[in-house]
Order: sequence, then structure tokens, then C-alpha cells
Amino acid sequence: MKLSVLLLASSLFASALFGADLTGKWSVTSTPPNGGPPHETTLYLIQQGDLLTGYLFSRNQNEPIEHGKVTGSSISFEIVRDNFGEKRVSEYSGTIEGDTLNLQMPGWEDHKGPVFHLQHVSSEKPGAMPEPPKKVSLPAAKPVPYNGLAKTPPMGWNSWNKFASKVSDRLVRETADAMVASGMKDAGYIYVNIDDTWEAGRDAQGNIQTNSKFPDMKALADYVHSKGLKLGIYSSPGPKTCANYEGSYQHEEQDAKTYAGWGIDYLKYDWCSASQVYDYHSMPAVYAKMGEALLHSGRLIVYSLCQYGVFHGPQWGASAGGNLWRTTGDIQDSWKSMSHIGFDLQLNLDQYAKPGHWNDPDMLEIGNGGMTDTEYRTHMSLWSLLAAPLLAGNDLRHMSKETLAILTNREVIAVDQDPLGKEATRVSKDGDLEVWARPLENGGEAVGLFNRGATTATVTARGADLKLTGSYKIRDLWAHADRGEFKDQYSAEVPSHGVVLIRLDRGR
Ligand code: GLA
Repeated sequence: MKLSVLLLASSLFASALFGADLTGKWSVTSTPPNGGPPHETTLYLIQQGDLLTGYLFSRNQNEPIEHGKVTGSSISFEIVRDNFGEKRVSEYSGTIEGDTLNLQMPGWEDHKGPVFHLQHVSSEKPGAMPEPPKKVSLPAAKPVPYNGLAKTPPMGWNSWNKFASKVSDRLVRETADAMVASGMKDAGYIYVNIDDTWEAGRDAQGNIQTNSKFPDMKALADYVHSKGLKLGIYSSPGPKTCANYEGSYQHEEQDAKTYAGWGIDYLKYDWCSASQVYDYHSMPAVYAKMGEALLHSGRLIVYSLCQYGVFHGPQWGASAGGNLWRTTGDIQDSWKSMSHIGFDLQLNLDQYAKPGHWNDPDMLEIGNGGMTDTEYRTHMSLWSLLAAPLLAGNDLRHMSKETLAILTNREVIAVDQDPLGKEATRVSKDGDLEVWARPLENGGEAVGLFNRGATTATVTARGADLKLTGSYKIRDLWAHADRGEFKDQYSAEVPSHGVVLIRLDRGR
């Protein structure tokens, strides 16, 4: 009794003290929002008046806090990161409540991340921040020979956008079944790709293990193959994946052989914690290392680079052995995210796309519920014009008729899969109205008339902008209807956030 009164008194005393001085250690161990092993976030603070210094330990690394301030029971500070050669300032803010520090984490772009509730651990003044471990620099790699795969952009499904950590053997089997039963396979969707959160640790020989969600990866691959489909998997060149699972660092060849042994056909390789161990100038060599390993794995494996387009990824993706490479950060199921990625962040990348090697503006969100069907048709049209991988990101077991119709529109898919492999460019922009076009193998052209604005508008594709002369037959690929002859231009009413996608074929 006496002891608990004493403890209460001392903790009240300590709480009162925090109002005056936050110096000490504040820590929380949390599970990432998308699942994964718990990880630690700790603030080592020194308060002098209203100034705050110290460092933050998160994502397995220490970073000094800058411009730290205490205002009443609130704090704010910045962490300045070297984001692949560009300075990025992340703003943190927090409130103190008793012995809890509620820390608002920064998120992507202007989104806020989760709030972490750090507990007071000690009032001891922290020493200097430990020196960061020296990063590995790899010498430039020789170009990795082309593996002969992905002559057209890969088509399939990936678990992440809809299911994140809820992916399992059962989900993958059911998705494979649904891919066949829904007609998606017949429309060209072949890869069933497991994203992050399948990994466990390693055995005594260093072999990567699957966790309990995937009891037998080889049996799963056999099942997927028995449906005439292919199986994809995910890893990171760093020690940990983005969701904090086991990565391939220092096990690249071994992992590539394991994948081949299981019957894996596709690898998405996600940079993430590689920043903690590699100097980012080594990024092309780091990717080439896995590219080589896959080539010598004994199985043909499509190689998908996921490094968000930083450090000029599209320029060296192919020579690292990549069949595709991400060009941006993660897509979200919103018009804002999809349209920004699709329209604004793909400019001037067409020169890097060709058969075997594709720009990847990230997976599809069609059918996930955050956009209208009109917006999803824009998503599908734009990705097809961009010769982007078509990796559905929804629940294939429960799709609306409209979602299925959007994903399986064969006339649109034929644009994406056109064997010439030329990515579209933006040929005109008039405020919110944009026209994008890509040349097709038969001498024709696929043209998207887009309206990013808030009200219906007339969009015009001009022959002069398209650099087309002569006459062409017009086919509307969403209406599945012929629209007569194209001479100098074609105009169409396009709803807000919508598209009219046409194909121009030379008349006989
Ligand atoms: C990163 C990738 C995503 C997904 C997650 C998994 O954010 O960009 O596509 O793979 O990691 O953790």
C-alpha cells in the first residue's frame, strides 16, 4: 500500500516535471499499420528553455532533430533527410499528456502519418547521437543482359493495394480461381503477385522462410500454374522490407535460387531499408546484383524494380536487368493521387519504355471504391496509353460488373499491349483538357481525350498536334462504336474526370 502511494506520488511528480523539462528518453514499440513485426520509435530529447535538441530513432536509424521547440505542452521539430540527393524536410509535432508524448508522424506528400504514443522511459540526459554505421558503396555494375521477358507490359494482380498484410495462401488461390472464372485470364491477366508480408526469418543455412500465412510456397506455385497463371513475389535489397519483414540483403543469390525452386515467375524488389545500408549512388549496382542473380537462378523471372523513380531510375532500370521500374511513390485510391501520378509525373519518360522494359506508374486501384467508374475508366485508359503494367489491385472475388468491364475492355487492353511498345506522350494541354497519344504497330494511333476539370467539356484532338495527315477511321474504345472519319481533328464531349479513348486506323 505504502509502496503504491509512493509510486503514484513519484509518477505524479515526474509528470509534473515533464511540463518543465522533457529531457530524457521517450519510446514506443508499435506494429506498422500494414502489419509486420513490431518496431521501435524513440526520441532522445534535451530541453533547454523552449529549445529542444536530441535525436530520433525510427526505421532502425538515428537522425538528429532540428529546429526543435517547446510551446506549453506541445513540441515541434524537423528531421532533414537526404532524399537521394535532394534535401527533404519532414515536420513532426507532438503533445505531452502526463508521461505520454503523442507524436504526429509525417506521411507521404501532404498526408499525415499515424500518431505514435511514446512513453517516458527515463529523465537521464542523452549523450551524443551514435555515429551511423558506414554505408556500403558498390562499384558500378556491368549491364545485365535482357531476360527476354515482358515483351508487352505485364498483366495480372497484386495483393498490396486492397489487402496489404492480409494476403495469404488462401487469398492467392481464391484470386487465381477468380482470375480464371471472371474472364480476366482470357483478357490477358496472368500474374498473381504476392506483395510484402509473406516473409519470416531465415533458417540456420540462411534460407528465407515463409510465415504462417504461406505454409507451402511451392505447392501454392503449383496450384497457380495449374490454372495456367504465374506467381509473383516481393522482397527488398535492404535488411528489411517496407513493412519491416525480412529482406534479401546479403542473400541475393540464395533468395533468387529459392524463388526459382518454388516456381516463382515475377519478383518485385522494393528499395525501402536499403537506404540504411547502401550509399544511394550504389542503387543501380544494387538492383543489377539481383538482376544477375535472377538470370542465374535457373528460372525465367520477370524483374520489377520498386524504387519510386528516384535517382533517375527509369534511365538505368533496363541495364540493371529490370523489365519494369516504378516511376513514382505509392498510388492511393483517389482521383487526386491517380491523376497526379498518371498525368503529371509521367511526362518525358516515354523514351525509356520499349518491349521488355516498361515505366511503372504503380498498380491499379480500379474497383477499390475511392473513385467513380468514370475516374476508373480514365485510370485504365491512361495506364494503357502509358504502356503501363496492368496489375489489378482490387478483390477479384467480389467485383461489380462495371469494374470487371473496365478491367477487361479488350479494345483498351489492346492499346496497352500493342507490340510496338511505344508509350504515349501528351500532345496538347489546354487548362484541364489534355490529349495523350501513342503510335500503334499497324500505323494507327491511340488517342485519349481527357477532362481533368469539374464540369463536362468539349475536348479536341487535332491532326496537327498528333502529327497525322491523311484520313483515319475512328473507333471509340469505351463505346465500342465506329465514329466515322478523322480528317483534321476530332472533338468529343467528355464528362468531368472522364475520357474518350479512340483508336485511329488508316483507311484501306
Ligand atoms: C512500398 C511499395 C508498395 C508496397 C509496400 C509494401 O510502399 O511502394 O507498392 O509494395 O511497400 O510494404
